Amino acid sequence: MLASPAPILWQNLRIIPSGWQAGPVPLSDLVSEGRRIVWLGEAGQAPDQYQAASRHDLEGALVTPGLIDCHTHLVHGGQRADEFALRLAGANYEDIARQGGGILSSVRATRAASEDVLFEQALRRLDALRAEGVTAIEIKSGYGLDLATERKMLQVARRLAQARPVTVRTTFLGAHALPPEYAGRADDYITQVCDVMLPALQEEGLIDAVDVFCEGIGFSLTQSERVLQAATRHGLPVKMHAEQLSLLGGTALAARYGALSADHLEWLDEDGVLAMRQAGMVAVLLPGAYYFLRDTHLPPIDLLRRHGVSMAVATDCNPGTSPATSLLLMMNMACTLFKLTVAEVLDGVTRHAADALGAPEVTGRLAVGHLADFVVWDIDSPAELAYWMGLPRCRLVVCHGQVVA
Ligand code: NIG
Ligand code: FE
Repeated sequence: MLASPAPILWQNLRIIPSGWQAGPVPLSDLVSEGRRIVWLGEAGQAPDQYQAASRHDLEGALVTPGLIDCHTHLVHGGQRADEFALRLAGANYEDIARQGGGILSSVRATRAASEDVLFEQALRRLDALRAEGVTAIEIKSGYGLDLATERKMLQVARRLAQARPVTVRTTFLGAHALPPEYAGRADDYITQVCDVMLPALQEEGLIDAVDVFCEGIGFSLTQSERVLQAATRHGLPVKMHAEQLSLLGGTALAARYGALSADHLEWLDEDGVLAMRQAGMVAVLLPGAYYFLRDTHLPPIDLLRRHGVSMAVATDCNPGTSPATSLLLMMNMACTLFKLTVAEVLDGVTRHAADALGAPEVTGRLAVGHLADFVVWDIDSPAELAYWMGLPRCRLVVCHGQVVA
């Protein structure tokens, strides 16, 4: 029989409460045993049975749950700095995509890269996120667009979870763009995605959820619905890149399939917001993409707020629209560009991001029975988490009860 892991008593934490406004945060102690929290309460009040546990005195530092990046394209070949330069000189993102650049240029680079090279490059990005307190992350495929390369990307995502103490959820995004070999035959490609790629990769245990880019330069409502139907047939949760560049109504469609989230949402209207509310979906806001595309059409934050739709914030880390490896910077941008409050962005990278992740184990909340994933910060006020732009202030990252950074 395995001996149960020794408990650890973490003393004098100030856990920033959900909905924090201002004012003092009380001192707590927390006991972890193995991966989980077994006791949480007032400082100095841990039961006798934990008094002999090994101790970490956190000396009153502010603590949050581990941060969750619930929307990334972390695994990809190459970069697109030249395309960025072209856009600065006046070219537009959608035109570049229609001319075979954009996502398809990353597809060429990803197909050409070995699994090891993809792994090493993604690992650097993952480590940058982890150093800032990320303990759980979603990673999409979608730069392969053929079975072998989509598999390679998802295998890299699984390898990352072996290489580092972090929770990884994979998302199959075969319907990200139309690969050149299917030019003019988008419906045939969707058949390939639904009938060949999705079942094969699901069978291999590589898929935790399914996503689709529903957009003029992506896939139509009808094509997107076929992907959602296939995912549902295979028992997989769905999500959608929706209303990023135009209002197609993908969000309401995703809601009909009980999607975990709809993501981007710059052009979302009130009907879409109501559909999200009814389906209990999370609105994943991606201020990095809004900023990097120099977008000016804001997502309907007031409507989302008014109708009580949970908002998450993520990096969308990808080579085309958001080459971002700082979730803290995204929090800053969500505040400055989207006018979220500090309390909203804190929930947006913890509990609401957990709901969007669809990993029942990862809750984004510190409570007895939950994972002991938390971050100890070198700050005086919770607002500093959304205030600094680049100053490292993560003192300690604890993932599954272990100090990992
Ligand atoms: O989330 N919108 C679609 N997909 C990515 C960008 C892909 C790319 O340009 O490489 C996004 O913004
Ligand atoms: Fe994305």
